[in-house]
Amino acid sequence: TIETVTARRIIDSRGNPTVEVDVVLADGSLGRAAVPSGASTGAREAVELRDGDSTRWHGKGVDQAVAHANGEIAASVRGRDAADQAGLDAALIALDGTATKSRLGANAILGVSLAAAKAAAAAHRLPLYRYLGGADAHLLPLPMMNIVNGGAHADNPLDFQEFMIAPVGADTFAEAVRMGSEVFHTLRRDLLAAGHSTGVGDEGGFAPALRTAEEALDFVMAAIERTGYRPGTDIGLIMDPASSEFFCDGVYDYAGEGVRRTPSENVDYLVKLIDSYPVLSIEDPMAENDWAGWRELTARVGDRCQLTGDDLFCTSETLLREGIRTGAGNSILIKVNQIGTLTEAMAAVATAHQAGWTAVMSHRSGETEDTTIADLAVASGCGQIKTGSLSRSDRTAKYNQLIRIEEELGSSARFAGRSALRGA
Ligand code: PGA
Ligand code: ZN
Repeated sequence: TIETVTARRIIDSRGNPTVEVDVVLADGSLGRAAVPSGASTGAREAVELRDGDSTRWHGKGVDQAVAHANGEIAASVRGRDAADQAGLDAALIALDGTATKSRLGANAILGVSLAAAKAAAAAHRLPLYRYLGGADAHLLPLPMMNIVNGGAHADNPLDFQEFMIAPVGADTFAEAVRMGSEVFHTLRRDLLAAGHSTGVGDEGGFAPALRTAEEALDFVMAAIERTGYRPGTDIGLIMDPASSEFFCDGVYDYAGEGVRRTPSENVDYLVKLIDSYPVLSIEDPMAENDWAGWRELTARVGDRCQLTGDDLFCTSETLLREGIRTGAGNSILIKVNQIGTLTEAMAAVATAHQAGWTAVMSHRSGETEDTTIADLAVASGCGQIKTGSLSRSDRTAKYNQLIRIEEELGSSARFAGRSALRGA
């Protein structure tokens, strides 16, 4: 049973405050979880409670969320069975009482939800992935490694937010990390040789002053080849345009490129990119308010490209069901803090799988050293994880945790590889 809940303010990878929670059980077992934070957030995400006092932390303080966790939440969950995750999460949702977790804050609620799961795992003397996933949890996820940053994650003109590589040809997770790291360093050398900056963005990928997606893709393709890998066969390309960020008044406004595209023109443009490069998956190719555009793109290429809804679904089962019903996308991104409890995030994965869709476990652009999502990727059996570049400890911590899990699973470990992707 839960004995104490202690929340505190720590800082995330961007140096902004965030919530960390310790849950201690009666037997002394400790679970600790830190809450991530997005920059290009979906409009329908659960509410991250920020103090809004501009004289402190530029308005981003989380003192209220911390106080809620230490006060009201701690008092109400004391004595609860930490092993009853569904019951705990339902109680947290009911205590908050709003549809968006805006009263207590999704950051306060998620911290407690995840810390309780980790405390329960510790009490069972099991690693989190096994405690949550059971004895069958042995699938190591295909990593989507973000090696070029743009959009809201960098100060360059690139309209698309993320250009990723996925080592689909690797035999093991550890090999996938090696392949990704090699390409990352080749890309660094190539960018430097071409006179570009090799400074990195929020997720640890390079942020060169490129203007078009094609320029970025050409650099990545060249780096894959020059490292000795076959694009598409050994390493596939993945993009997250995060297009809600540049969809204004019904038009996709590519400011860096200097082009405006209607939804249909944007579909044509994306289809052209899919036809010209080995693009295996695109996240938020169309904006969160452009469901018609989503359906048009899915009808055109959904059979040969994974189309993952991030802002579109916000890890909400309700929105996901709408996408499944109407044919908008074929995959969902899972960000635990978009929905605010572990139970709801795992339910979204299950609903996607039941519909024949895929799910991708994901970090946020603001992260911490917390590696919970690495375990959740294995526990859920989703087979895919998006957790940034091959640099910066807030990103590599998740890769390193998956390397440890693969080692621990030994001969029962299986690397998802290409099979995890929808339509690839
Ligand atoms: P965010 O973006 O964490 O800054 O919201 C990540 C993404 O769009 O996938
Ligand atoms: Zn996204």
